[in-house]
Amino acid sequence: MAFIPSSIKSCLSNPDPHVNYSAKFTTIQDPLQKELQRATLGKAKEFGTLGAPEVLTFGENFIRAFKGKKVLDIGTYTGISALAWALALPDDGEVLTMDIDLNNYKKFGVPIISKHPETFKKIKAVEAPALETLDELIADGQSGTFDFAFIDADKENYENYYNRVVTLLKSGGVVFLDNCLWGGRVTVEEHLENDPLCAAIHKTNRIIFQDSRTYSALLNFGDGTHVAFKV
Ligand SMILES: C[S@@+](CC[C@H](N)C(=O)[O-])C[C@H]1O[C@@H](n2cnc3c(N)ncnc32)[C@H](O)[C@@H]1O
Repeated sequence: MAFIPSSIKSCLSNPDPHVNYSAKFTTIQDPLQKELQRATLGKAKEFGTLGAPEVLTFGENFIRAFKGKKVLDIGTYTGISALAWALALPDDGEVLTMDIDLNNYKKFGVPIISKHPETFKKIKAVEAPALETLDELIADGQSGTFDFAFIDADKENYENYYNRVVTLLKSGGVVFLDNCLWGGRVTVEEHLENDPLCAAIHKTNRIIFQDSRTYSALLNFGDGTHVAFKV
């Protein structure tokens, strides 16, 4: 069975006191976020893939600092990352969240987020393979218009998502790629050979490091957050 690292583990149950301490002095959650996190951890399948709260707070900080208005959220799941970005956006901001299957969002996210219509109205959810959605945005002339993006869907496509997102970001825009340490496995040769998801993430990390279109840093934060700023 394929290895799946837990993003949420970084903050809630990591045995390393340094990780817990940093997460504690980073994470700020709205009551809606706490409610959706509780609901997801309690009942959704694969709840360990829920975005790490400290990473979401860090992303919100960027959106607020840059006064971002247009956000891409690749991999909706129950909607906790889309909710974070919506809370950080101004009233006329929009999060385009995309997932191949929006059932978890409809079941867990929508009933909770819709209690706050001002936030809910900022989230547009698209059910389709994310590559198709991103290609449609490029064909629609939206290149160079997005302020922030979060890549957190299927790891095989990380390189493809990154390349499309760089096209869609405006100059100075920021992308976060989640799970870029893959539970530490990207550092182990055996996993790079035997785990295709691990190899795909490692390849994307190298591409970002060498990419002249962005300035970047791979942070040991959450499950590894690769942060890239478009030149
Ligand atoms: C790790 S979860 C996203 C977690 C979410 N960002 C959060 O913070 O809780 C990954 C999601 O990617 C979706 N996904 C997988 N393959 C996809 C694809 N080809 N296109 C779009 N979404 C995909 C899955 O259905 C799943 O909901």
